Amino acid sequence: MKEQVKVSVPGKLMLFGEHAVVYHYPCIVTAVDQRMQIIVKPIEKKKFILHAPEVGLEDYSKGLRDLTRGRTAKGARFIETGIKNFFQKFKLRQGLRVKTKAGFSAEFGFGSSAAVTVGIIVGLARLFKIKLLKKQVFELAYKTILDVQGVGSGFDLAAAIWGGTIYFVTGGQKISPMRIKSLPLVVGYTGIKADTPTVVKKVAVLKQNNQKLVGSLLAQISLLTNQARKSLLQGDFRKTGELMNLNQGMLDALGVNTKELASLIFAAREAGAWGAKLSGAGGGDCMIALVPKEKRLKVEKAIKKAGGKVIKVEPNAEKAKLETN
Ligand code: PMV
Repeated sequence: MKEQVKVSVPGKLMLFGEHAVVYHYPCIVTAVDQRMQIIVKPIEKKKFILHAPEVGLEDYSKGLRDLTRGRTAKGARFIETGIKNFFQKFKLRQGLRVKTKAGFSAEFGFGSSAAVTVGIIVGLARLFKIKLLKKQVFELAYKTILDVQGVGSGFDLAAAIWGGTIYFVTGGQKISPMRIKSLPLVVGYTGIKADTPTVVKKVAVLKQNNQKLVGSLLAQISLLTNQARKSLLQGDFRKTGELMNLNQGMLDALGVNTKELASLIFAAREAGAWGAKLSGAGGGDCMIALVPKEKRLKVEKAIKKAGGKVIKVEPNAEKAKLETN
């Protein structure tokens, strides 16, 4: 067995179709160059030990028999459940020391849970020399996400596993990488951490109370996402920006916009962005703006002035990969 394995996994930004993708519609997601590193090391003791300083865990430890049983620290849930699922699937048992290093704050909504879930599965596969197809990594990681939080489309896992920019349908029914040359985004963080499962449940309640209205709104988002797929492939930023603004209006109607997101979005548009919208569940986290090169500085300044924090990220980033020790 190898001494230790290091995996580097990209974060993600949702471009189009959030929420609709929970209901069997497509979305478009891009991997970003802010990455998580997951280091997996075999140990003698029959234990799982986790060092994840970014979520306040130092030498968190569980017996291998107790994985996911008893009290599981919030910051350990995805990795602990991922290990359990991997061991169960391949009938394995091995003491492990796992370390995570985040290249970004878990607050931004860049998908740290998905990234560590993919990281642990890729890392274990390498450690035990088990060859897994991307789709198999996705299936194991998706089961893990559903075991932990009960909801989620899995789009963030696909971004981590495939990298680049992806057209994705719920649960991996469709995963199509898109060849996009450039994507000039500015990202603004509201300073507010959103809780995705809570926002997803809020939309579910709205849908239950307004079946037809919300149902057709989600279908509209799907139509829009399919148009955005074309405009992105054609490099038509003007059209893509227009579709971002339309998507934002629909997300607002779903009740996931906030005052803070709205003010960053309006600031970006007024400063010359082609379009701007929230990215992800809403309720906080980040907004994105598609911006002509000559307007970038102006848009960044406007976002800061409106109370946001500009986060430097490059979209279309590389997939999860092993790092040499
Ligand atoms: O909050 P984020 O960035 O994890 O995005 C959530 C996107 C949703 O469509 C609302 C949920 C999902 O799992 O697809």
